[in-house]
Amino acid sequence: MLLIKKVASALGLLLALTNASVAPPRDYAGRNYFLVELNTQDSNRPLSDFISAHDEYRFENQLHGLDNHYVFSIDKLHPHNEFLGNHNSNGHSLIKRAAGFEDAYDALMENGHLKSIHLLPPKQLKKRLPVLITEEPEQHTPPQKRLEMVDSSQAELKKVSDQLDIQDPLFAEQWHLVNTHYPGNDVNVSGLWFEGITGKGIVTAIVDDGLDFENPDLTENFNAKGSWDYNNQGPAPLPRLFDDYHGTRCAGEIAAVKNDVCGVGVAYNSQVSGIRILSGAITGAEEAQALVYGLGINDIYSCSWGPTDDGRTLSEPEAIVKKAFIKGVQAGREDKGSVYVFASGNGGRSSDSCNFDGYTNSIYSITVGAIDYKGLHPTYAEACSAVMVVTYSSGSGEHIHTTDIHKKCSATHGGTSAAAPLAAGIYSLILLKNPNLTWRDVQYVSVLSSTPVNEDDGHYQTTALKRKYSHKYGYGKMDAYTMAHFAENWKNVKPQAWYYSDVMPVSESLKVGSGPQIISKSILITQADLDAMNLERIEHVTVKVNIKSTFRGRVGVRLVSPYGVHSDLATFRPGDVSGMGFKNWTFMSVAHWGEPGVGEWSLEVFGDKNGPLDTEITFEDWQLRFFGESIDADKAETYDLDVDYAAVRRDRMKQEPEPTTSIESSSSSVPEQTNESSATEQVSTTEASSSTDTTTTTSEPEDKTKTSTTAKPEDKNKATETGTSTKTSEDAAETEDPEDADFPEEEEPEGEEGYNKQLSSGHTGQYFIGVAIVGFVVVLLLMKFHKSPGSGRRTRRREDYEFDIIPGEDYTDSEDEGDDDSFDLGRGGRSHRNNRSDEPNYPDGSDGLPVYEEEMFRIDDEDEAPVDKKPQKKHEGNKYQQLEQEIPDAENDDGDDRLGSSSV
Ligand SMILES: *[C@@H]1O[C@H](CO)[C@@H](O)[C@H](O)[C@H]1NC(C)=O
Ligand SMILES: *[C@@H]1O[C@H](CO)[C@@H](O)[C@H](O)[C@H]1NC(C)=O
Ligand SMILES: *[C@@H]1O[C@H](CO)[C@@H](O)[C@H](O)[C@H]1NC(C)=O
Ligand SMILES: *[C@@H]1O[C@H](CO)[C@@H](O)[C@H](O)[C@H]1NC(C)=O
Repeated sequence: MLLIKKVASALGLLLALTNASVAPPRDYAGRNYFLVELNTQDSNRPLSDFISAHDEYRFENQLHGLDNHYVFSIDKLHPHNEFLGNHNSNGHSLIKRAAGFEDAYDALMENGHLKSIHLLPPKQLKKRLPVLITEEPEQHTPPQKRLEMVDSSQAELKKVSDQLDIQDPLFAEQWHLVNTHYPGNDVNVSGLWFEGITGKGIVTAIVDDGLDFENPDLTENFNAKGSWDYNNQGPAPLPRLFDDYHGTRCAGEIAAVKNDVCGVGVAYNSQVSGIRILSGAITGAEEAQALVYGLGINDIYSCSWGPTDDGRTLSEPEAIVKKAFIKGVQAGREDKGSVYVFASGNGGRSSDSCNFDGYTNSIYSITVGAIDYKGLHPTYAEACSAVMVVTYSSGSGEHIHTTDIHKKCSATHGGTSAAAPLAAGIYSLILLKNPNLTWRDVQYVSVLSSTPVNEDDGHYQTTALKRKYSHKYGYGKMDAYTMAHFAENWKNVKPQAWYYSDVMPVSESLKVGSGPQIISKSILITQADLDAMNLERIEHVTVKVNIKSTFRGRVGVRLVSPYGVHSDLATFRPGDVSGMGFKNWTFMSVAHWGEPGVGEWSLEVFGDKNGPLDTEITFEDWQLRFFGESIDADKAETYDLDVDYAAVRRDRMKQEPEPTTSIESSSSSVPEQTNESSATEQVSTTEASSSTDTTTTTSEPEDKTKTSTTAKPEDKNKATETGTSTKTSEDAAETEDPEDADFPEEEEPEGEEGYNKQLSSGHTGQYFIGVAIVGFVVVLLLMKFHKSPGSGRRTRRREDYEFDIIPGEDYTDSEDEGDDDSFDLGRGGRSHRNNRSDEPNYPDGSDGLPVYEEEMFRIDDEDEAPVDKKPQKKHEGNKYQQLEQEIPDAENDDGDDRLGSSSV
């Protein structure tokens, strides 16, 4: 009997693994799904063991493109749903050794191969649909050229269509390609076309609601191999719902064939794949797979969707989706990295900002905003410090003209949804000009060769690279010709490096309308800090914060760099009444691109004086992270989302003259065990985040939180307040002892000498190693025991174990979760869908969805994670001379920032 079962399950496993991309149909009404991460690099044994050990979980499929992750499901009526939760995922371990489920808990936790469990609630991602054009163009910006050059520009149009033999009937309407009414307000692509740069060989995946490849305007440029339908599992991502037109229109902007149908794409000889995920409920597992589907085929992923743009959602990708981004930039395009292009969002009229969207806020995505027919900023387009570039879309009475479903053409495409694919199309031309560009080089090209627009608007600042940056327009609009030619001569930057500061405790409050109105904290970054992490120059900056507030939309957060460049990280959102604040939320900015990083960085937290005066804000803590170019390419590392690089840095700075080789090994597990003498709160974070690596997860989550909360805030405040929070600022030798005074934690007595500490911590280290070895042996024995058929253990599990998908009781976020839930799950009563008139409903996604407790599916944050290639080649210095300059004077029109914040 048992044997038969085992054989059957092995067969099923084999089938599932060989046919990995076709997942069995989902039954969201009857089952809960979750992802199990197992150590299966070397063999599938841990998987088959897991399957046979846990009858209560049904193996569904392996994740395609993401190793070691397996989807399981459990009947919703199964009692284990009471207990099962996230484990080492999404920043939480919600799984608890709850009463009645001790054995079930132990059975899981004792599995030495289990790395994480990640619940997979179904959700519906939101398309960024065109916004009705009702707005007045903004007054402050005069249209660039309101000339009546109609004749001569018609001549340009005629020249282009004649020379390239473009017969497409709608070509003349495609003002974004050749603008005859407002010359100059187009992507300036014709010069590239004349050079024969039309996209051939580049493939862009449209991650959307399908792609009508039967439309004659797309058939020829459709790439079937890079395509998949995750809504109706299968290889053909055809639009099936009445409103599945979005992806097809986006595809047309990029690769509509030069023929006699509709218009042409900006890269009309490139190819498009369709990856369908927006037409119904999916889980994070499908979303993650979508972002790495066809990694060897698709060069660019164009994404015109994200969390709801309603001005009150705060949401980011689930951990597995973040892993997918990292996989994409590490392995896509033959390790040069996939290019992810995201629309900034259409919530501008609801004061929404793309800094509240973890997708646009990711360092791996290029966030694209919009300008319109007249070169103006359309009011729907969201601004934020993550906006990299803008390009054309609807507004000022015009839309984007493109291909449509049902063999039609569309004259009403728009929103930032239309800007992102246009950008993706331009990136495919850029990649064609220089196929060597890595994902980061593509961002460099964007930073350095975009064209600033409307400089009297958008509060432009001059950055360290002498580039103009605006939260509204990013580094400017995309001029395809200029960018591609710039890219042509671009030499690759060195691999990525990163720096994490310590988590800096603050624990200060303010009340809007009384008392101090701003909490300003700073950190001094030294050259030694950056040297320890091999970081030469900044590209992306992220700030991870914990801020409590009675009214999240009234909280402002601003980062000011040593250069005086500021990033408005949180802008006011009057509709965001959530009392949840920001929990481990990561903001991102591209405004500091090219800064050396050394010096004082400050973070200001303040309230909206125009809002309710009783708003309370408590700034709990923050952590600054830099991602940039390495000093020494040979020392480059591969980024790992789960590693606490602050601990790695501390460790390195202690043993300064250490050769780099020791770094990787020490980074994975050692840091928390070695020197507890410094910065204990770090240590606890380390444990939390890096426990994935440790197989013996004996410590319970409660312990971790306890340690971190027991830290005495006063002392820390002192440290932070004394201006430059010292923590990271000291150089190697000093960090040790004097620093301890600032971080008393619950550690040893203050008077203790560093030497003694080292001594004792050395012992501690040995002790831990000893424990680890014993633990390992125990695990081995247990596994062996446990595998033997008919063992008492196994039967016992049968009886008392059940899994359950339920968050731990201590999880506090619960009721508000709905507000934070970025994605509309279409659940009755919980739906925050905002029914704009131009937003169709999703008939198939809205019903039949199970009622989940939202908090268990909490999309918590993790950090953006960069990645990098191996130290392959050595690059010489920086090609971009722009980088060497004197410091621009600090203030750039600080006065009229959109936050209206009081400055220091
Ligand atoms: C933030 O993340 C850390 C580490 O992942 C975790 O210990 C802590 O509980 C989180 N804080 C909140 C408020 O969720
Ligand atoms: C646009 O393309 C032309 C070549 O077709 C090029 O000469 C010009 O510099 C580009 N940019 C602008 C802003 O005109
Ligand atoms: C790309 O790299 C290869 C090899 O490193 C080199 O031969 C080629 O010239 C590069 N191409 C461009 C456009 O830089
Ligand atoms: C703790 O840090 C000191 C540097 O001050 C170092 O010499 C010592 O080896 C560290 N302890 C351990 C156990 O690594």
